[in-house]
Amino acid sequence: MARLFEQESRTFSEFLLIPNLTTRDCIPENVELRADLVRYRRGQEASPLQLNIPMTSAIMQAVSDANLAIALTRSGGLSFIYGSQSIENQAAMVRQVKKFKAGIVVSDTNLTPTATLADVLKIRQRTGHATIAVTDDGSSNGRLLGLVTSRDTRVSRMELSDVVTSFMTPLEKLVTAPEGISLSEANDIIWDHKINQLPIITGDGNLVGLVFRKDYEQHKDNPLELLDASKRLLAAAGINTRDFRERVPALVEAGADVLCIDSSDGFSEWQADTLDWVRENYPDIPIGAGNVVDEEGFRYLADHGASFIKVGIGGGSICITREQKGIGCGQATAVMEVARARDRYFEETGWYIPICSDGGIVFDYHMALALAMGADFLMLGRYFARFDESPGRRLVVNGAYVKEYWGEGSNRARNWQRYGHSGSETGLAFEEGVDSYVPYAGSLRENLDSTLAKLKATMVSCGSTNLDHFREHARLVMVSATSIVEGGAHDVIAKESERRA
Ligand code: IMP
Repeated sequence: MARLFEQESRTFSEFLLIPNLTTRDCIPENVELRADLVRYRRGQEASPLQLNIPMTSAIMQAVSDANLAIALTRSGGLSFIYGSQSIENQAAMVRQVKKFKAGIVVSDTNLTPTATLADVLKIRQRTGHATIAVTDDGSSNGRLLGLVTSRDTRVSRMELSDVVTSFMTPLEKLVTAPEGISLSEANDIIWDHKINQLPIITGDGNLVGLVFRKDYEQHKDNPLELLDASKRLLAAAGINTRDFRERVPALVEAGADVLCIDSSDGFSEWQADTLDWVRENYPDIPIGAGNVVDEEGFRYLADHGASFIKVGIGGGSICITREQKGIGCGQATAVMEVARARDRYFEETGWYIPICSDGGIVFDYHMALALAMGADFLMLGRYFARFDESPGRRLVVNGAYVKEYWGEGSNRARNWQRYGHSGSETGLAFEEGVDSYVPYAGSLRENLDSTLAKLKATMVSCGSTNLDHFREHARLVMVSATSIVEGGAHDVIAKESERRA
């Protein structure tokens, strides 16, 4: 007969935190959310790579493209760019993230000199950017001929057929800077000349990118942004256990700082092979693995050198793995089980291997619970899919704004490398995820600020100003089904039905 685990597995909503003494210095302003990302010898060194907030975005087509990665990394977290796309496209996204922070943005709104005002209006609508580079071939790195900014176009007084060269600010009237200039030098030029954007050009006059005044100001608002030694944003990417020999070199070449094997079931020899190969060929690139839900799975990946280990099977909001295959484990139990395994492993070997709670976070307070239960950091899909920066389309359904959110195991994503039961490239033998909508929630930054405010408030109630202390001292209690009802507004007539995430 199969071995039966003694305890039922449980999920986040079945637990609450009991407050600890809040001391006077324990206030939200003093709470620090730094989190270890990769393995290290605790007690002898710090984790070589840390997150400034304990949040990563899911390795999914509907979540982690370059756009969301830039927004999240600027806020202190990290996005794993999805791997269910061609190697070239994924590497291009990694490159886009790495190029971003230097403050020099590759121009994405470009026209040839023969374009007209009609083309200007069309491209502005498509990209949402007002500044257009006019280059000889209309590419982002062509020879720069001039710029069109909102100051150059007084549309009501112009003809749609007017050619850009007749109203652009030509190169000779532009302030430019040479390739290789530092960001702070570029910003000085912007300030000295009172301009809004500064084109950076090569010795041959080709456009490298633009530095915008507004980005300088934004930078001031991003004290948590996650940067590498050259002050570029950190970039992370998902890989699979099939084409890693081709994919990893391309991603590393594009600048990826961290990798993670993306699989619904990580306790496999395929993961061991992938870890071994990456460890041998790219010993300096940290690589996470998973997903697992118990000590055996954790130890297997830890012994093969995983830099961090993801926990969670079947808890994702779009996930139907449990219904389809009957495998998985309640997410709260899985996190606590693997956290205990991590701590035992550390005592035995001296290696502390951070764990990531992946999937199943529904309410903001679930984040605090997952961290209290032992997670070093979190991975979220649904949460980020709701924001402006995610790749899904924003639509109106039944009068409300929604965003598209589809699972990697759905027929839409066809991520056969993640769910490759048949090993064939032609498709999935069966679906393990759904194609759905999530309520649209606005910008990442606004939502994240409110989520982090709640997390800090919870930590303060539990007497903690950092995550290590919180994990060690938090006290959890299980709640009965009836007390869960008590936890929401009850026995009152609500004025408006609203449910906060
Ligand atoms: P969420 O935050 O609850 O939406 O869960 C996101 C997580 O679900 C991802 O990080 C993956 O681990 C997992 N996931 C993504 N796509 C699928 C799928 O199609 N089926 C099952 N799990 C999925």
